[in-house]
Amino acid sequence: MNEHTMKVPETTSAAVDLKRHLLLRVSLFALVIGLAAGAIVLQQAVARIGTHIQRTGNTVERLIAGEADQTRDAFRRSLEGMELKSLDGIGPLLGICVAVEDIYKRAVVQRCFHDGGAAPGVVRWLLALLIGPDLHYRGVIGQYPGVKVGEFVVTPDLDSESVAVWNQIRTVLGMTLGILLLNLLIYRPVRRALRPTDQILAVLARMEAGELSARMPRPRLIELRRIAAGFDHLAEQLQKTLASQRHLALRLLAVREEERRRLARELHDEFGQCLASIGAEAAFIGGRAEARDPDLLPAARAIAAVTAHMMESLQGILLQLRPVGLEEFGLSAALEALVGGWRRRQADCVFELKVDGEIDALPDALRTSLYRIVQESLTNALRHGDPGRVKVDVRRDGAGCRLRVDDDGAGREGPTAGSGLGVLGMHERVEALGGRFALTPLTPRGMRVEADFPAEAVRTVEMTHD
Ligand SMILES: Nc1ncnc2c1ncn2[C@@H]1O[C@H](COP(=O)(O)OP(=O)(O)OP(=O)(O)O)[C@@H](O)[C@H]1O
Ligand SMILES: [Mg+2]
Repeated sequence: MNEHTMKVPETTSAAVDLKRHLLLRVSLFALVIGLAAGAIVLQQAVARIGTHIQRTGNTVERLIAGEADQTRDAFRRSLEGMELKSLDGIGPLLGICVAVEDIYKRAVVQRCFHDGGAAPGVVRWLLALLIGPDLHYRGVIGQYPGVKVGEFVVTPDLDSESVAVWNQIRTVLGMTLGILLLNLLIYRPVRRALRPTDQILAVLARMEAGELSARMPRPRLIELRRIAAGFDHLAEQLQKTLASQRHLALRLLAVREEERRRLARELHDEFGQCLASIGAEAAFIGGRAEARDPDLLPAARAIAAVTAHMMESLQGILLQLRPVGLEEFGLSAALEALVGGWRRRQADCVFELKVDGEIDALPDALRTSLYRIVQESLTNALRHGDPGRVKVDVRRDGAGCRLRVDDDGAGREGPTAGSGLGVLGMHERVEALGGRFALTPLTPRGMRVEADFPAEAVRTVEMTHD
């Protein structure tokens, strides 16, 4: 991610992923419902078993007493051989275990009436935990009124009770599973409806990178569709405004260049001619003075020298105003001449010029701007940095056109020594042509001027200008 990365403004509320949020909430809801229902089932079962044991006690007492009477003869008071067959019918329904002891506290028989089925161990364990070890009913077995032959203890049959509880819990689990399934059913359409948000973000990223012609997808969700349409409208307006601004800036550049040319023509035709004739006059006076009045000779020579100096200065100004050979011989030749001029003037600095690709075929406005940027960059490098080496690199390929001017001078932008308009002007030029401009310090020292014109910008300039 670079500096163009979209900045998300910090808000007080955290961002919410609707899909995950929904999934999490409903799943949590299902879980809570499941747990609560499970707890209620257990709690009811415990309460039921508690009252149940007390109530069944009497019935069991009667049945056991009957069985004790039948199996024993009148003279034996032992319970030996008792199998609790009298409880075979009702036992499984009651969900109990019965233990019988004789009067000497010896265990006679112990049976649990479990009619099959199995529940997970954890349910049985939970039930045992909740009921506690002390729940039981203790009764007396008598044969004749007043004669005690033994005792019996009724305890809940945890195996059959846990099967009953497990059946209820299974229903609850089914319900929870149903809610989770519903969750999935909701999640899928929501995910499908929100899927275009990724595409919308991708388009926004493209727009941010400068591709304003990118358009939003049209999602099925009406809210997103409205947002997408709003963005498209905004992008269209922005595109139009930028296009008219660029057009205006291009016109201004063209007018400025035209003005410079006119000025150069005027200076050349007016001042140039005048200076040439003054030079000729001075030469004539000098010739005459030599023969007739040698005292005038120094003055005549001074006039000739000043005129020659003015001519030279004028030529310098003309060169600045109107790039030599840019129109006639093309950008490469004009840049060669420009760099050649600096080589001559600054013998202690190495100038490199590298040209790649068909830069002469670039649109007129772009050629002039590139020339001007190189011109200003070289002037700045020599003026502010005192460099030992300056590299100019112009490249044109399928991706567009790129210019780099690197120097190894003092670097760093600081208080301006001149009018301070040079960098501003370069910036304006590049922006007007739809490119990107940067002036950055280099490590360990030096400055880099960068101007990038993407292929799209080159095409646009071509179309608007030619
Ligand atoms: N190659 C460079 N090396 C060092 N400093 C630079 C370089 N290019 C620009 N600068 C800094 O940036 C400032 C602004 O440059 P700019 O060209 O806008 O103004 P200027 O050269 O001072 O005046 P002018 O308007 O005549 O060009 C300069 O004053 C200088 O401090
Ligand atoms: Mg400057």
